[in-house]
Amino acid sequence: MNCLLRAERISKFYNSNASNVVKSTSISINKGEIHVIEGKSGSGKSTLLSMLGGIEPPSQGSVFYKNKSLYILPETEQAKIRGNSFGFVFQAFHLIPEFTVRENIELPLHFLNVQNNELRTEEIARELDIYSHLDKYPNYLSGGEQQRVAIARAIITSPEIIFADEPTGNLDQKTTEKMMDVLINLSTMKDVALVIVTHEQKLIRIPHYLYTMHDGVLKENGEHV
Ligand SMILES: Nc1ncnc2c1ncn2[C@@H]1O[C@H](COP(=O)(O)OP(=O)(O)O)[C@@H](O)[C@H]1O
Ligand SMILES: [Mg+2]
Repeated sequence: MNCLLRAERISKFYNSNASNVVKSTSISINKGEIHVIEGKSGSGKSTLLSMLGGIEPPSQGSVFYKNKSLYILPETEQAKIRGNSFGFVFQAFHLIPEFTVRENIELPLHFLNVQNNELRTEEIARELDIYSHLDKYPNYLSGGEQQRVAIARAIITSPEIIFADEPTGNLDQKTTEKMMDVLINLSTMKDVALVIVTHEQKLIRIPHYLYTMHDGVLKENGEHV
């Protein structure tokens, strides 16, 4: 199998919860595919995303990145994969207020020890329409602009897969549409795979896989256009 990311019967158990917050789940994600997960608050969506994204080891089961079992790799290898190949966008943007927009965008590069490429930062900022804000502090930007900074930060490393956890949760309708367009463009133009937790599934007008999460059980609803 030539899969980018594959989870095999992963589940998550916390001592404080009576049952598994994520029950045995398997999923395969290939290059450029869009996977959308819907579900009520508390159903286990963020936990599942964290396990897929290399952030939270499952209690049982395995996650394979290009056929390598992610969580049994040495921590330095795992960090390299998270840093180079995965991008994360969260509902709370997690921007650092003391850093300028430019510094926030370039932050992941410092962890990777790669040469800073100013031109690439500016190219991405132009694409996302935040170029004129590069030297400002995030608090001076609107919610939509801040979320685009968070997306810029997620793609500065050219990831193969982006995990987005309710990325439009705090945004108005127009900004939400724009945000989804940005993510979908990345997927179609650059073959980036997307795993999105969102209720904005109707805004995705190209084929994608749709799932519903209910009490820790992921159910596939088939491929939607
Ligand atoms: N670190 C943790 N310790 C204990 N319980 C947790 C932890 N993280 C999440 N949970 C519980 O797991 C369940 C699913 O949470 P979550 O994955 O955040 O759901 P969702 O993202 O769908 O709202 C919730 O009941 C939550 O309280
Ligand atoms: Mg959540």
